[in-house]
Amino acid sequence: RIGEVAQELGLNAYLVGGFVRDLVIGRKNFDIDIVVEGDAVTFSKEVAKRLGAKVHTFERFKTATLIFPEGLRIDLASARTELYRSPGALPEVDTAPLKKDLMRRDFTINTLAVKINPSEFGRLIDFFGGLRDIKERKIRVLHSLSFVEDPTRILRALRFATRYRFELGRHTERLLKMAVERKLFKTVEGQRIYHELKQILLEENPLRVFLKLDRYGVLAELFPGLRWDREKKDLFEKVRKSVIWHKLNFPKLSPDTDYHLVYLLALFWGEPENRVKEYLAALTLPGKEERELLNLLKRARELLPRLESADRNSTYLSLLESAPEELLIFLSAVSPPEVSEKVREVATRLRYIKPLVSGNDIKALGLKPGPVFSELLRRVKYAVADGELPPDSREEQLAYL
Ligand code: CTP
Repeated sequence: RIGEVAQELGLNAYLVGGFVRDLVIGRKNFDIDIVVEGDAVTFSKEVAKRLGAKVHTFERFKTATLIFPEGLRIDLASARTELYRSPGALPEVDTAPLKKDLMRRDFTINTLAVKINPSEFGRLIDFFGGLRDIKERKIRVLHSLSFVEDPTRILRALRFATRYRFELGRHTERLLKMAVERKLFKTVEGQRIYHELKQILLEENPLRVFLKLDRYGVLAELFPGLRWDREKKDLFEKVRKSVIWHKLNFPKLSPDTDYHLVYLLALFWGEPENRVKEYLAALTLPGKEERELLNLLKRARELLPRLESADRNSTYLSLLESAPEELLIFLSAVSPPEVSEKVREVATRLRYIKPLVSGNDIKALGLKPGPVFSELLRRVKYAVADGELPPDSREEQLAYL
């Protein structure tokens, strides 16, 4: 339908980028990006009006986001149309703005486009050999200065190579090594590096990307002096398993859980606090996220020995009751097996124990409402957790009060 609107307005519209790449590779991708040869802002407003979608526009960047009632989001960008087109130019010239737009991209596999105007619906456009490179399973840059122009592409190259199990093209690999040697990361804003790092940590298997980052000397460049030994790698693997456990057991909590933070805890685990602060300062993490991370690290350090010496369910419960999901996931990864079991039991069962008695029951006993109420209810919860009280007998819980 969007293509139809484009056609009526006499514009060309194309699906581009990751969506098309993943369509060809056969991987799910719900980030739909459209490039319009023309003004995406005016176009998006028109689409929104005709198709009943909401639209957010960004005049300065000439981009827009459409949000459809069923929740589908589509990002639109403008391919700059040339101002002075030679009179009588051939229709082919019409693809020039799209080509220019695609030319600025990182890797050939990201330069595929699919036209969505009804007249040529589904026509695949491949200016830079993206299709060939997908077939050959290669990550290739479009030009020799790609990593110099944007060194965060070094991280992207290794992320995509890992995700799709592609190799770097020979020339691309050479350019990447040169870019690392020239310490080009120093020229990039910390938060752009952090953004890409986060994308890596949100991949299915960040460890495999990190092994590559290490091999190409990127890790040492980003985190000078960081310990990257067997133990750390094992911890990454354990975090991966804990993350899977969490996603399977808590699908409702998943969308609000910052899984990348759990990996950051693993990355910085056992590093001196000063050094961690330096790393975070260099990445210019948002203040809130930096404080959160440092706080989680501290809590994990303090909790671990206490969990290791705990011997009752209620002790595990009291230690972990207020722990955010990220901390539970990390602790279940970093603890010895028996403790890890207990952390997971707290997460899946113990924390959800609800006493069958309430404040009203305590009032009926003649006590004045106050902090003692919640303390008493907590005691009941702990007694249920320890198996001293049956979870389903209100009688016995009342008697316990
Ligand atoms: N891009 C780029 N250089 C960057 C970042 C992005 O050239 N440093 C281009 C890429 O060609 C990409 C597009 O911008 O296709 C959109 O980027 P992004 O949404 O980050 O990536 P996706 O390719 O959609 O990857 P993912 O599947 O990880 O979302």
